[in-house]
Amino acid sequence: MGALIEARDAYMRGVAKERARIAQDLHDDVSARLLTSLHRRSADMMRKDVREAMADIRTIVADTAQTWRPMEEVLADIRFETMNRLEAYDIALDWPVLDAPQTSYVIDYATARHLLSIVRELLSNVAKHAEASRVSVEVEVDAGRLKLRISDDGIGLNAEAEWGNGLLNTSRRAALIKGDFHIRRGEVGTIALVEIGLVTGGRPSL
Ligand SMILES: Nc1ncnc2c1ncn2[C@@H]1O[C@H](COP(=O)(O)OP(=O)(O)OP(=O)(O)O)[C@@H](O)[C@H]1O
Ligand SMILES: [Mg+2]
Repeated sequence: MGALIEARDAYMRGVAKERARIAQDLHDDVSARLLTSLHRRSADMMRKDVREAMADIRTIVADTAQTWRPMEEVLADIRFETMNRLEAYDIALDWPVLDAPQTSYVIDYATARHLLSIVRELLSNVAKHAEASRVSVEVEVDAGRLKLRISDDGIGLNAEAEWGNGLLNTSRRAALIKGDFHIRRGEVGTIALVEIGLVTGGRPSL
C-alpha cells in the first residue's frame, strides 16, 4: 500500500512539474511571439506570427522531451526566429550563418527551449529598453561549451537597474541547463553572455 501511495505521489509530482513547464513555456514563448505580432505593419507577417505561435503551442504541449537535434540545427532555428522578430522592430541583426553541421554536438528538447527563451527575452529587452539599431550575435564552441555573445548598440544597461522577471527567469533558465548567464554594460550598449555545456551525439536525431 505504502509503495502504491509513493508511486502515486511521484506521478503527481511529475504531472505538476510538467504543468509548470507548459505554463512557463506558453507564457514566455507564445506571448513573446504574439507581442511581436502586434508590432507588424503587414497582415501577412501577422498571419505568419500567428501560425508560428500555433506551431509553438503544439510543440510545447507535445511530449517531445526526448528529442535530440544537432546543435547547428537548433541554432539555425533560433537565428531564423531572431531575424524575423527583429525585423518587426527595425533592428538590424548581425549573426553570421553557420555552415552545415560541423560538430557532432546535439541539444535536447528542454535545453533547446530554454536557450530559445533566453535569446527571446534578451531580444525583447533590446527592443523594449535599449534604443538600439543593431544586435550582434557571436557563436563560439570551445572545449565542449557553447557560448553566445549577444550585444546591442543601444544606451547600455544601467548598473543600478533592478532585474525584473525577464532577467531573473533568464538566469534561472541558464542554471537549469547547467549554464552561465552574465549581462553588463559594454563600451557601447549592452553585452549578454550565455554559456552551456554540450554533449556529443550517438543518439538518433529526429
Ligand atoms: N539591452 C538592454 N539595454 C538597456 N537596458 C536593459 C537591457 N536589458 C535590460 N535592461 C534593463 O534591465 C531591466 C531589467 O530587465 P528585465 O528583463 O529583468 O525586466 P523588464 O524587461 O523591465 O520586464 P520583464 O520582466 O517583463 O522582462 C530593464 O527594465 C532595463 O532597465
Ligand atoms: Mg525583460
